[in-house]
Amino acid sequence: MATKRLAVFASGNGSNFEAVVRACQGGRIRGEVVLLVCDKPQAYVLRRAKEYGIEAFAFNPKDYASKGEYEREIVALLDLHKVDLVCLAGYMRLLSSVMLTSYEGRIINIHPSLLPAFKGARAIEQAFEYGVKIYGVTIHFVEEAVDGGEIISQQAFPYEGSDFDELERMIHALEHELYINTINKLIAESRI
Ligand code: GRF
Repeated sequence: MATKRLAVFASGNGSNFEAVVRACQGGRIRGEVVLLVCDKPQAYVLRRAKEYGIEAFAFNPKDYASKGEYEREIVALLDLHKVDLVCLAGYMRLLSSVMLTSYEGRIINIHPSLLPAFKGARAIEQAFEYGVKIYGVTIHFVEEAVDGGEIISQQAFPYEGSDFDELERMIHALEHELYINTINKLIAESRI
């Protein structure tokens, strides 16, 4: 089986990016992260990319006339790198039809809740404030609807504590494992 070529899109910290890169470099994923796409030129994830020797495309959306314009540039880069799978990991922008049609069925996203509960950017805080007793993580294919698209995997765990930082650490640790396992599942099932 050929090694799969992955691109990761991220806007901030990049702990999921690093987890996937390390899994590839350590042989846990039969893949290679060939490109990081980042819409925030100051984001910490860019430092991680440099450290691991991963090529990065950092851009400022304000330098473009429209989303379609910068996405066409991104699609050209993905094509150039022969990317098999795009992994969104804390990429804080909706994709337009330019990306969605060019890479249909090959874009996945990780979300820190059990979808369809707690969609959007503040999922962990909202679940905590709501007082749920079961938390979890979802990985799904990306479609036009926010946090919509077919669910590929979900994992849940009980938490009844009151320490938000501890909860957040638990969710992120689960995310890293689930992202690696889910990419492996897609490869094993020849879905990418
Ligand atoms: C993660 O919680 C992910 O589920 C969400 O954004 C966060 C990104 O974290 N979409 P990191 O940048 O990978 O550390």
